[in-house]
Amino acid sequence: MELIQGVMVFLALSYYMVGPCNCSAVCSPATYELRLSKAGAFHFPVFHREHPCLDPSPVHPSSVSDAGTVIGTDKIHQGKYFMAINLGTPAVFNLVTIDTGSTLSWVSCERCQIKCHKQANEAGPKFNPHSSTTYRQIGCSNEDCIDIHQDNGIPYGCIDATDTCLYSVRYGSQYSVGKLGRDRLALGDITVVDDFLFGCSKDDIFYGFEAGVIGFGNKSYSFFNQMARQTSYNAFAYCFPSDHQAEGFLIIGPYPQRLELVTPLIRGYGLRSYVYSLLLLDMTVDGKRLEVDPSIDTRQIMIVDSGTDDTFVSSPTFYALAEAVTSAMRDKGYYREYGSEKVCFRPAGGEPVNWRGLPAMEMQFLRATVKLPSENVFHQQSVDRICLAFQPDTSGVRDVRILGNKALRSFRVVYDLQKMTFGLQARAC
Ligand SMILES: *[C@@H]1O[C@H](CO)[C@@H](O)[C@H](O)[C@H]1NC(C)=O
Repeated sequence: MELIQGVMVFLALSYYMVGPCNCSAVCSPATYELRLSKAGAFHFPVFHREHPCLDPSPVHPSSVSDAGTVIGTDKIHQGKYFMAINLGTPAVFNLVTIDTGSTLSWVSCERCQIKCHKQANEAGPKFNPHSSTTYRQIGCSNEDCIDIHQDNGIPYGCIDATDTCLYSVRYGSQYSVGKLGRDRLALGDITVVDDFLFGCSKDDIFYGFEAGVIGFGNKSYSFFNQMARQTSYNAFAYCFPSDHQAEGFLIIGPYPQRLELVTPLIRGYGLRSYVYSLLLLDMTVDGKRLEVDPSIDTRQIMIVDSGTDDTFVSSPTFYALAEAVTSAMRDKGYYREYGSEKVCFRPAGGEPVNWRGLPAMEMQFLRATVKLPSENVFHQQSVDRICLAFQPDTSGVRDVRILGNKALRSFRVVYDLQKMTFGLQARAC
């Protein structure tokens, strides 16, 4: 998710729910096991929010109506992927979103102080710090407390009487507020961090039914950086499957070296020093470059954000892309449906969409041209309606370009922070 600092507000968001499980052995606790590779990497499974273990149910989200700033109906956070963590002693199982666009991790805690999102049974129970013998609260003069306050712009987030450090993180119209603490973090049965620093959330607006968020951004206190201290190589990799039923993976540490494409990884994005970015040079549709006014520079830096579904490109690129896709689709017998904010198409004869006959799209990053499979370019809205999974940057967080997770599904995606490269390998999960 794209973390918002200070008072910037707006984002189009949606909420999806996980509910009662109608599943079989795939969903047993063994599903969530961590493996250690021979090379010393942590290797664990990843699930789409629509995985059969997390089947959507008609639970009604109580907190959603409070979200006054939600605009439109576009579902920019619908493509979330989860991992399982075990927190505290005795360990509490929680499913959390993998988010490279934010830093501080948090889980929903007992007891809720103001209002808290509804958590699905499958996401595990709410963590109760008083029930964990290894939980420790962070004091106000603690270095981590000061760091987190500096990064998130709340200098007085402290309860002096009890020496309790408070935190607050904001993602568009969503937020989480609570106390900072440390506890034992395990993946499967293996304790990976003895004193994992995280937020114990007591008040939130959050459009999900998972327990919280695990941050991979580059700060000393992010999940990734706390984990990376235990590995021999500073990198992480993941594969988010296109098929919701399939299992993906996440690797922290040394990763399989075979990569088809490698582009430089760029540190930060404007004032957001903790994110990972890439340089997009251009895009093509059916091999043709986009027709953009030559006086406009279409090169753009994009944040790679595992917590956002769609890809947000600059407006000139987006409108040229929509134009090129519309014309290529027209040649293939589709008509563009105007009226929705998204760019959507239907076959003119009313037949089902032929996924093998859609236009070919490429994203040209510096030194790496990525051919996107059609499932990564379009959302299937119904059998005979598809919509482009690209949006102009004006419809997301203003002027922030984001490479969302949909575009890179089924690729092994490697963030090599030691070599400062970003690698891709197609059909990896
Ligand atoms: C991560 O942050 C550290 C400290 O600010 C910095 O030295 C390092 O270059 C950053 N790495 C990346 C990949 O952003």
